Amino acid sequence: MKSSTLFSTLALSLVGVFGCRGEVSEDPPVTLIRNMHNQPKYKAQAGSKYFADGRTMRPSLDGTVSQEAYMSDEDIATGRTADDLDYVREIPKKVAESFGGSSAMLSRGKERFGIYCAPCHGLVGDGNGVVAQRGLTGVASLHQDRIRQGADGQLYATIANGVRRMPGYAAQIPVNDRWAVVAYVRALELSQVSAK
Ligand code: HEC
Repeated sequence: MKSSTLFSTLALSLVGVFGCRGEVSEDPPVTLIRNMHNQPKYKAQAGSKYFADGRTMRPSLDGTVSQEAYMSDEDIATGRTADDLDYVREIPKKVAESFGGSSAMLSRGKERFGIYCAPCHGLVGDGNGVVAQRGLTGVASLHQDRIRQGADGQLYATIANGVRRMPGYAAQIPVNDRWAVVAYVRALELSQVSAK
């Protein structure tokens, strides 16, 4: 057999073995010369034995300041008074100004509430949203006296940090929008006072 024939027969059978397996596979393709095709890496949310806490996604270091979300006003950022002894009683004026007035803040809050809160708490905040109807029990009504009479800052902090079984929404709802949602919840509460 001529060496060129031998070579092409060999090449063809290689293609036969590795190329046309005809099945879908999750495995990476066979790469004879790997170059830099496959490199070790961590996938989001995956575990790792390398770090003591077993997480591949590293938490930010203490004292890290976010460039995008830097807030000079602690009370606006946290919902707590400057001495950190109590919650801010009312929505800080600066926030309403940043929306160009309370009315604009309220419409923004209505929109955000519809997206982020209504699925569980319902469009009127009675705790009977679709998720509750489909089985999530214990969704709080926002018309309880305790919440109605509570400080705006506490409602803000609930949105930011979550409470008991409710997750925090800090990652989805930026600071000013959280206050806008607070404003809208207050309006909803007023609208339902007699209904409770
Ligand atoms: C995934 C469903 C879900 C979503 C979305 C949700 N909540 Fe909740 N929320 C709950 C549940 C469940 C509770 C009751 C938590 C508990 O007592 O364990 C709760 C409780 C609350 C409370 C009562 C806190 C207290 O002091 O008892 C407030 C206020 C509240 N939510 C506001 C909001 C606002 C505002 C939003 C939108 C930004 C929101 N929630 C989005 C499920 C949700």
